[in-house]
Amino acid sequence: MIVAVDGPAGSGKGTVTKMIEKELGFLNLDTGITYRCVALEVLRKGLKLDDERNIIEIANNIDIKINNTIDKDIVILNGENVTDKIRTKEVTAVVSQVSSIIAVREKMVQVQRNLAKGKNVIVEGRDIGTVVFPNADIKIYLDASEEVRAQRRYAENMQNGIDMTYEEVLENVKMRDYNDMHKKVGALKKAEDAIIIDSTDLTIDEVVEKIKNRIKMFKK
Ligand code: DC
Repeated sequence: MIVAVDGPAGSGKGTVTKMIEKELGFLNLDTGITYRCVALEVLRKGLKLDDERNIIEIANNIDIKINNTIDKDIVILNGENVTDKIRTKEVTAVVSQVSSIIAVREKMVQVQRNLAKGKNVIVEGRDIGTVVFPNADIKIYLDASEEVRAQRRYAENMQNGIDMTYEEVLENVKMRDYNDMHKKVGALKKAEDAIIIDSTDLTIDEVVEKIKNRIKMFKK
């Protein structure tokens, strides 16, 4: 069974899908990890963001493994644990642009499908219901206001020791929304058959409950 969860940065996808993983035993696949890994390699190699040829080369040769643990996804990139290194503000600042390169997306979509193969999965991203798994059994589009999303990311960063002001986070959310929605391929958009959940005024538990109900209804 495939549950697709799309939505903008900070809409709560990560937290909610992890809870569903715990409660229903689904594997949670965070597809943003794959683009973050490419972005990390781009920074490490000191490539310019318009050097598409070499960025595509990185995407084509990358080896990404994700070990799901109860609380965290451990990310292994070419044999190295990069779990925290892919969440820095430097990576966050360039990942959207890296993920706009069409050939990078084509390759990452393959990687994502392979990571999900043969499992009950709840997959989160931007284009899961539209491109990666257009035949997903359930499609959710999770939304929330820009300010609430920035506030959530800011709190999350504080917990993870990432030093950014609320204003910086809000700016970053706005910039990423713009980039994510205006990509030529794989842009963030609602699948026609997606259920829209606006989490601005909902608690995490309320969102999780709504998704769990959908899954229960589907199984009947
Ligand atoms: O969810 P995230 O913030 O970790 O995602 C990182 C970036 O990757 C984000 O700018 C959008 C992009 N992304 C994408 O284009 N398609 C996906 N399926 C997942 C993420």
